[in-house]
Amino acid sequence: MRFIPAVRVAIAIAAAAALAACASMKLPGFLHLPARGAAQPVDQPPQAMQQTQEALGPDAHSYARPAEARVTHVGLDLKVDFERKVLSGRATLDIRVAPGGRQLVLDTKGLFIEHVTIAGREAPHVLGAADPILGQPLTIDLPAGARQVVIEYETSPSAGALQWLSPEQTAGKVQPYLFSQGESILTRSWVPTQDSPGIRQTWSARITAPAALRAVMSGRHLTSDGEAAGAGWKAWRFDMDKPVPPYLIAIAVGDIAFQSTGPRTGVYAEPSVLPLAASELVDMGKMVDAAEALFGPYRWDRYDVLILPPSFPYGGMENPTLTFATPTILAGDRSLVSLIAHELAHSWSGNLVTNANWNDFWLNEGVTDYFENRIMEKLYGTTRATMLETQGWQGWMEAIQDNGGLTGPDTRLQVDLAGRDPDEVDTSIAYAKGSFFLRTVELTVGRERFDAWLRSYFDRHAFQPMTSEVFLADLRENLIKGDAALEARLQLDTWVYQPGIPSNAVEPTSTLFVTVDAMASKFANNLTTASGIYTDGWSTQEWQRFLSALPKDMSRAKLDELERTFHFNETGNSEIRFQWLKLAIAGRYDPAVPSLEQFLTSQGRRKFVTPLYSDLMAQGDWGRPIAQRIYARARPGYHPVTANAADAIVLK
Ligand code: BES
Ligand code: ZN
Repeated sequence: MRFIPAVRVAIAIAAAAALAACASMKLPGFLHLPARGAAQPVDQPPQAMQQTQEALGPDAHSYARPAEARVTHVGLDLKVDFERKVLSGRATLDIRVAPGGRQLVLDTKGLFIEHVTIAGREAPHVLGAADPILGQPLTIDLPAGARQVVIEYETSPSAGALQWLSPEQTAGKVQPYLFSQGESILTRSWVPTQDSPGIRQTWSARITAPAALRAVMSGRHLTSDGEAAGAGWKAWRFDMDKPVPPYLIAIAVGDIAFQSTGPRTGVYAEPSVLPLAASELVDMGKMVDAAEALFGPYRWDRYDVLILPPSFPYGGMENPTLTFATPTILAGDRSLVSLIAHELAHSWSGNLVTNANWNDFWLNEGVTDYFENRIMEKLYGTTRATMLETQGWQGWMEAIQDNGGLTGPDTRLQVDLAGRDPDEVDTSIAYAKGSFFLRTVELTVGRERFDAWLRSYFDRHAFQPMTSEVFLADLRENLIKGDAALEARLQLDTWVYQPGIPSNAVEPTSTLFVTVDAMASKFANNLTTASGIYTDGWSTQEWQRFLSALPKDMSRAKLDELERTFHFNETGNSEIRFQWLKLAIAGRYDPAVPSLEQFLTSQGRRKFVTPLYSDLMAQGDWGRPIAQRIYARARPGYHPVTANAADAIVLK
């Protein structure tokens, strides 16, 4: 066994933690005013050059009518009640009302609204019918001159954004834990506001929590140790003075400690996880420096990472100032840190310039995927970056297969998500195709010119929403500048609006992967034994490639040989374990079932969980009972995002 020692550390952690065009449209002047408390950032262009969010069209995933009345600031005062699994308190919304505006419409999901008051008086309001995806509109009648609305409310114990963990589900086993996940449309399950990525708001919060715990949020921390708030309670204050979309408001409360990794970076985690987390993420500061050197200043002051308990449903989430990350990236050998480069890159693509609605999700994820690769190249060199890029290409090809082939409508960059839950659509096209789109432009115009444009794009649209149309218009105006030959070569509209693979896409080739592929083929064809494969120094990515390159119908004898030689069942490297388990399920390989069960009950990352259940269910009489048995045990430990997605697979 050659790669295991480097990753043994991690398994202890993972296992220990039981899981348990419109741009020219004229708008009313009032919409141009900066949000309260949001100083006009120095790097913003004059207001006249900006597209306001209302100009950018409707959002099928929000009930808000921002042209009539819109929220500019959210003030939260919430108590964290672990016994009842609810947040309760008050949201004070600053609003800006258009001349003649009569109603404010908010998004809510499962919220219990106690009172709505305006200037101290009860305001008439109606909670509309509940849509299973969108939730309920809260429509509030506005008296003339209304500027602020106070909502007293409580969340539901089943709020889609929140997971309430019992002490047994944490690494420390003593304290409970709460965390939120807002993207895409889940913030409305804990904050009553206009929950559209095109409606930016500043926010502030006072969070009262049990005194033994610490609260952290995706903004500035105003209290270092918490303030006394009655016997057994402490209050924590935060604010975000830059306008952000509501999906970026995030909270976590638990036994959370902090370790600095540099002048403006650090790691938060449960105390027992902190040393490994801090050593794994030592390069955070260098990543921020590299990102700034590439595409302009980091505008969010600090960059910290919070390592969550293993049920965190995503790899990472780019909450401003505080990336939320799964502990499954702590491989022990720093081999999975590209995820941090990715979430950091969102500080430009996504958090600074934000998709105006979820149909243009590629503007968040595709641009970030490209940016991530540039950070990785700058820090670790082209060999590693090309390997990651080649993985991206492989992912793109698989996503095309899974989405109806080359003509599948969801293989376009701009997609139509109306009537669908954005979180239940396979969005991997947005990442890879978006990234290769930017790479194609880079290769066509040259890196220097491309980088200058991308950097200026972030500056021009800082703190603004973005659509595919405005993105292409900006590219044409500021990069192509009427060069007809260049325009023809780029095929911009084909990339954004057509399905499949544009003819100018360039497939990357990792020479390391060429060698790995050759080994996999030799092994599959009985031209070498497993121990005869030269795996010395293989990175996580080479192991992933090797496992994914093996045929899906390998004999029991060959799977036995792999397991005997490499001990994949025991690896603490989550990415390698995942690839192995896929292969094992395809081969109905019983000796991997305990490992599979351990993996599915010790972490809840959706990307790992749902494909494994799908593969099991596809294995009929052999796989279904295994899936159902494991799921019954594992489901109580999953966050709603993962549980809902897995329900659709296992309970059908
Ligand atoms: N913003 C996403 C996570 C997300 C996407 C949450 C869609 C909700 C809806 C985040 O930046 C992300 O892309 N995470 C990836 C890791 C990344 C390295 C590709 C993940 O979680 O796997
Ligand atoms: Zn992302």
